Amino acid sequence: GIESVTVRVPMNIALVKYWGKRDEKLILPLNDSISLTVDKLTAETTVRMIPGVGKNTVEINGKQVELNSNKRYETVFEEALRLQRKRKDHSDSNGNQSVFYHFEVISKTNFPVAAGLASSAAGFAAIALGIQRLLNLDDVQANRLARIGSGSACRSMFGGLVHWKKGEKEDGSDCVAVKTDESNWTDLYCIILVFNDGRKKVGSSEGMKRTRETSTLLKYRIESIVPKRIEQIKEAYSNRNFETLAHVIMADSNQFHAVCLDSVPPIRYLNDASWQLIEIIEKFNENETRAAYTFDAGPNACVIVQKKDAKSLIYSLLQSIEIPSEDLKSAEEELKESFEF
Ligand code: DP6
Repeated sequence: GIESVTVRVPMNIALVKYWGKRDEKLILPLNDSISLTVDKLTAETTVRMIPGVGKNTVEINGKQVELNSNKRYETVFEEALRLQRKRKDHSDSNGNQSVFYHFEVISKTNFPVAAGLASSAAGFAAIALGIQRLLNLDDVQANRLARIGSGSACRSMFGGLVHWKKGEKEDGSDCVAVKTDESNWTDLYCIILVFNDGRKKVGSSEGMKRTRETSTLLKYRIESIVPKRIEQIKEAYSNRNFETLAHVIMADSNQFHAVCLDSVPPIRYLNDASWQLIEIIEKFNENETRAAYTFDAGPNACVIVQKKDAKSLIYSLLQSIEIPSEDLKSAEEELKESFEF
């Protein structure tokens, strides 16, 4: 009676950032956010729901996750069981009548988890989607399941441009992610630059808490800036206006890092390499805005560019980065393949 389902779910990159919670337990954000789904970076995840009492297990890229130090997984599994018990007939889609289940999750990402590239978003979204299939949940229930795993995960349940609405209600019933534009802008590329440094960064949850409690700029950002930017992104996206899209993306990334710096003690996520990249993009955009950088809670950059400008951007990047010549050769080969130059 083991039921298993395998799903492949992409990561997403926020164009207007989620930073700050109005409810830490339900993971309800203080502000709306909007993201682009990055189709090619995925977490392929198998979720098994096993009848009977047992220990839940989660394996990511061959390594067991320590569930005691990462309570979010247990929260998701408990919520899944609560939804299962709520069903009238107590049976799963296989007709199992058991009230107790445990879960086994095996996830493989096609990008390095250690790079801290919003991997938790794709992972929790995949678990939520898997459980949705197993329990025949509706989209709102699945969205909530992803969200209580990791806030940004609820934006990975759809492709294209996704708007996560903060909602007003205390129980979070109106806090959902929705796909905003039916026609995807398919020639947008996302180039990810991994500038890992050894520094232990402040985790998102801890960082958000600190900013909410100490930053005087955050309130201004949430009330006066974010709502406008969400609308600007939606409009620029539907009009395929890259220039406006890029300006809002960069401004919002910078403001997010500004409220981090405005926290006490200050939080710094960008490093020298991040700043070098900002300067490269500024130069690349000198005559025409052709690329936009954005950074999450770490030094790695995501650069958004239209297909027509991807090649010249990559060559400007390769020029400015010191790479041994043989690595450069294989990098070029790989790029040719993935970008169809
Ligand atoms: C900077 O979704 O990782 O990437 O809800 O506590 O799990 P939790 O936080 P998480 O935060 C993401 C923050 C961000 C911005 C964003 O993705 O919107």
